[in-house]
Amino acid sequence: MPRRPVNPLAGSEQRRTPGDWLDFAVELYAEHDLALGQIATSAHDEALYLILHTLGLPMDSDERVLAKKLTAAQAKKLVDVFRRRVVDHTPAAYLTREAWLNDLRFYVDERVLIPRSYFLEIIPEQLDDLVADPKRVRRVVDVCTGSACLAILLAKHFPRAQVDAVDLSADALEVAKINLQAHRLGERVTLHRSDVFGAVPPVKYDVILSNPPYEPSAHCDRLPVEFTREPRLALDGGRDGLDIIRKLLRQAKDRLTPDGIVLIEVGGLGPAMDREFAKLQPRWLTTTDESNCVCLITAARLQAWRG
Ligand SMILES: C[S@@+](CC[C@H](N)C(=O)[O-])C[C@H]1O[C@@H](n2cnc3c(N)ncnc32)[C@H](O)[C@@H]1O
Repeated sequence: MPRRPVNPLAGSEQRRTPGDWLDFAVELYAEHDLALGQIATSAHDEALYLILHTLGLPMDSDERVLAKKLTAAQAKKLVDVFRRRVVDHTPAAYLTREAWLNDLRFYVDERVLIPRSYFLEIIPEQLDDLVADPKRVRRVVDVCTGSACLAILLAKHFPRAQVDAVDLSADALEVAKINLQAHRLGERVTLHRSDVFGAVPPVKYDVILSNPPYEPSAHCDRLPVEFTREPRLALDGGRDGLDIIRKLLRQAKDRLTPDGIVLIEVGGLGPAMDREFAKLQPRWLTTTDESNCVCLITAARLQAWRG
């Protein structure tokens, strides 16, 4: 006998307030193995964000707001959004078409990785101490820019610098353009469609920053559904994850000012980097979760390297 399709949202009509929906949604996340880690690490936080966003309520809404009775139209909106999250495993950020980094909003859709980089912490808190003189930073580049979120953080951090933002994906650059316009940075951030530096004019940078694709291909084949909705080009770093990083470091050699630095986020590839690029003496930066997966390499080390 054919099995009756299960309706994961069955019973939702009994949920009368946003607070009821929050409890219900947290159960759904557990029952349906929804993957987290793209915009939040707890089901509660992600579900609350989706409920407040869907209902157009402020993110700091208190218990009284969560206890208010929903209209039929509001309840339908919640059914629709959680159906897509639970049944289709659509990532929350693709449902709301936005991602927040600190207090900055970025437009995102399926053409770009959902921003979640450690540079969010490093740019405001450490970058000034890592460059020779923050006041004299004139040119910086974000290689593998995706939504341009890091290029925009760089442009805001170094208000007098020209910023280049590079990506191989024409689709990603369309999204980057939307964000540059939204942040009024179209004049100061230049987009380049390029395989690393291949098609970028030959200028030298004070800072080269990159959050490249660094997952080993086999790992990309086993990702939870939510992560397979992100562009594979944004995640897949080749057999051992290092393909783009190798290319970037070889090309970075001729792209830095004498005091320049390269900053790369490498996920779990720290030990592999230390082995393969020992001569470059990568310096691992400390991040609050102690994953320490962003390294700094100096122009001087790259100059002396025969990579
Ligand atoms: C991990 S995502 C980072 C996106 C963004 N910087 C962020 O932190 O959210 C990597 C990006 O690298 C781009 N990419 C992949 N291969 C590339 C290559 N060979 N040259 C330039 N960009 C590349 C992808 O299209 C994707 O947008």
